[in-house]
Amino acid sequence: MPPTTAPALPIRSPIVEPEPAETVLLADGSPLRLRPVRRDDAARLRRMFYRLSPATIYRRFHAPLTAPPERGPGCLIWADLYDRYATVALIGDEIVGVARYDRLTPPGAGGGSDAELAIVVEDAWQRRGVGRLLVARLVAAAGRRRIGQFTGTALGDNRPLLGLVGALFPGASVRLRDGEYQLRLRLSDFAPGPSPAGRGPG
Ligand SMILES: CC(C)(COP(=O)(O)OP(=O)(O)OC[C@H]1O[C@@H](n2cnc3c(N)ncnc32)[C@H](O)[C@@H]1OP(=O)(O)O)[C@@H](O)C(=O)NCCC(=O)NCCS
Repeated sequence: MPPTTAPALPIRSPIVEPEPAETVLLADGSPLRLRPVRRDDAARLRRMFYRLSPATIYRRFHAPLTAPPERGPGCLIWADLYDRYATVALIGDEIVGVARYDRLTPPGAGGGSDAELAIVVEDAWQRRGVGRLLVARLVAAAGRRRIGQFTGTALGDNRPLLGLVGALFPGASVRLRDGEYQLRLRLSDFAPGPSPAGRGPG
């Protein structure tokens, strides 16, 4: 695994306090911890990247990356917890999934209410409810930061993402253009579905 020099935006939200961590039991009893990304997550996010299958990497980044992006919106830790926000899901001390939004334009407290959504759950933890929980936390955080709608793009064969969107945003606009689905998800359409087995503080 190559060393990283990945720079991160300072993780701070001058306007809204970061959400507290919570622990939720998955259906199989595994305790999943959910919290905002932290500056010291860089190494955890890098380790998660190297556990992803090529197919999962391609679906998340739309490119056959062999190393995590070190800069820009694709950089997993790039966050200020206001315009760029990421929620991470941990099993033990390892991150197994991350969902993020990036406000489209302009940034800051007077910014627009559309944000691009991106999510990935590592292969071994897919289809266990992690994605659903990550999106729920992200929607709650986004709403507190004046985001009203997520946009996103899914490759034409990305049935898991289309399934997730269909399960959580019944009113979603999903349009196929040039082999990719363009998604528009109003936060007001979010319908979280059944509650997990249990939850508690940090
Ligand atoms: C899309 C993704 C995040 C879903 O995460 P997940 O943790 O597996 O999702 P969950 O287990 O919470 O599933 C929630 C719902 O989504 C749908 N879903 C999830 N995986 C699915 C699949 N393989 N096929 C069809 N529907 C699926 C189901 O409706 C599911 O509810 P159910 O299990 O009660 O039927 C995950 O597959 C992933 O990381 N994919 C690669 C990256 C990617 O495509 N990112 C999107 C572009 S940025």
